[in-house]
Amino acid sequence: MTGTTETAYAKVNLALHVRRRRPDGYHDIESLFAFCEDGDGLTARRRDDGAILLRIEGPFTEGLEAGEGNLVVRAARALQAATGAGWGADLLLTKNVPVASGIGGGSADAAAALRLLDRLWETRLGEEQLIALGDPLGSDVPACVASRTLVGTGRGDALRFVAGDDLAGMPILLVNPGAAVATGPVFGAWDGVDRGALNAVDWRAGRNDLADPAMRLAPMIGAVLDALAALPGIDVARMSGSGATCFALFAGERARDEAQAVIRAAHPDWWTMASRLR
Ligand code: C5P
Repeated sequence: MTGTTETAYAKVNLALHVRRRRPDGYHDIESLFAFCEDGDGLTARRRDDGAILLRIEGPFTEGLEAGEGNLVVRAARALQAATGAGWGADLLLTKNVPVASGIGGGSADAAAALRLLDRLWETRLGEEQLIALGDPLGSDVPACVASRTLVGTGRGDALRFVAGDDLAGMPILLVNPGAAVATGPVFGAWDGVDRGALNAVDWRAGRNDLADPAMRLAPMIGAVLDALAALPGIDVARMSGSGATCFALFAGERARDEAQAVIRAAHPDWWTMASRLR
């Protein structure tokens, strides 16, 4: 489909500290978010009848519904409601990255829809208002609207932008063992122990506090982390979000590409994506 396009940049939590369980069922976190240059693709063509029609293609469409419950459609409806825009859209979502995998998925898709339709419909809300519109759609949607390096606190939706110059362009390898992990149960399995604040500058010394609970639910994650840790030329290896996708950062693209070849050869059934941080 031809039209206006946007990338739903894959999200990576370089560190994710869980601080406390809240009375509303959510958890207060402190997380350094970064974004890959690649992710799902979204294409839109404007309709004048107000209809929002979504089609989904690509390697990870299984189990997804394209109706009003889809986060992309909900994002479009939220933008219509907020602006009174009478436009609609034909949307094509290309699912390149696995769903329920800790790297944004539906949140990044919803955020891409907000950015894309704000352009297509010329509603010109701009980033700050799109972030506010995205907040009710999910804890990660505000960060995904921005899609640049930031620290998220609260549910992950209170954003503080940080300089990402040292991260931009950094080669990254994403690896998922094919286990879909829902976010709620992973937070639910967190042991409730506050292991301390995140220092965003010294994030390499930080942690992902959801790795242990996620590994209890999906033990395969441990195998991924072990495989990444054994690679030569690796900077950091860690799980992203609530898993199961793990990432490794490298000093150079060659080390990353060699690492991808090693992982693919040893685990042909695992999903991998070589990218760079943006
Ligand atoms: O916000 P979102 O709908 O993506 O969150 C999905 C689930 O993950 C929530 O219902 C909640 O159980 C859990 N969650 C949490 N604390 C957060 C974010 C999500 O407990 N900061």
